[in-house]
Amino acid sequence: MSSEVSSTETSDLSVTYSAAKDVDPKDLAELISFLPCETPDAWVEVALQRQDILLINHAYLEKCAARTALNMMFTYPDKPDLQRKMSRLAREELVHYEQVIKIINKRGLTYRGLKPSRYAGLMNVEIRKPSDERLTDSLIVGALIEARSCERFAKIAPHLDPELTKFYTSLLRSEARHYKDYLTLAQGYSKTPIDDRIKHFCAIEKQAIESEDDQFRFHSGVPSEKLTRPAYPKDS
Ligand SMILES: [Fe+2]
Ligand SMILES: [Fe+2]
Repeated sequence: MSSEVSSTETSDLSVTYSAAKDVDPKDLAELISFLPCETPDAWVEVALQRQDILLINHAYLEKCAARTALNMMFTYPDKPDLQRKMSRLAREELVHYEQVIKIINKRGLTYRGLKPSRYAGLMNVEIRKPSDERLTDSLIVGALIEARSCERFAKIAPHLDPELTKFYTSLLRSEARHYKDYLTLAQGYSKTPIDDRIKHFCAIEKQAIESEDDQFRFHSGVPSEKLTRPAYPKDS
């Protein structure tokens, strides 16, 4: 959880996340150390076999990210720093959405609604109700989702075809900043230390990432045996 990162950790990360050349290694190391665990290799293996679902779900998640930012702006109109950061973030997420859709169309795929993963819901149910607490918790959850997305882009990018490698690598810089924006706002607006809440949400996030999951999505957990059976439909 510490933001202090040693140079040894930084150089090790440059091997695992070799696609992240556009991001300052210190920023990436800080983001990785914020996350409670690394994406399991088993998720990467299944993601490479299900790139259609990966792209379609990715497009959906970019829209969700824009919606979350806009909702924040409407819920907290009296917070100028939040308004500024969330406005820029929402615009960037919609640009990402358009970029993914372009790739989806170019590949002859059809964007469609898919059942969402369990990931965000597991954290969202833990967000406290009173306004101040809700703001802190929502911003921490936002930071975790952005950080995980960035980590997954960095982890999978080197294994993809040149077009997707280039695209996912290009997303790293903004996603790393989004994570930081959410975390900075959480720290800035909370009247009390937020370390315990970060720990609380990290524990849930770790469970979602490291436990078995019967569904494959961008934020899904360790693929269950059911998902790796040859007969399992690759398009669901
Ligand atoms: Fe994005
Ligand atoms: Fe983002």
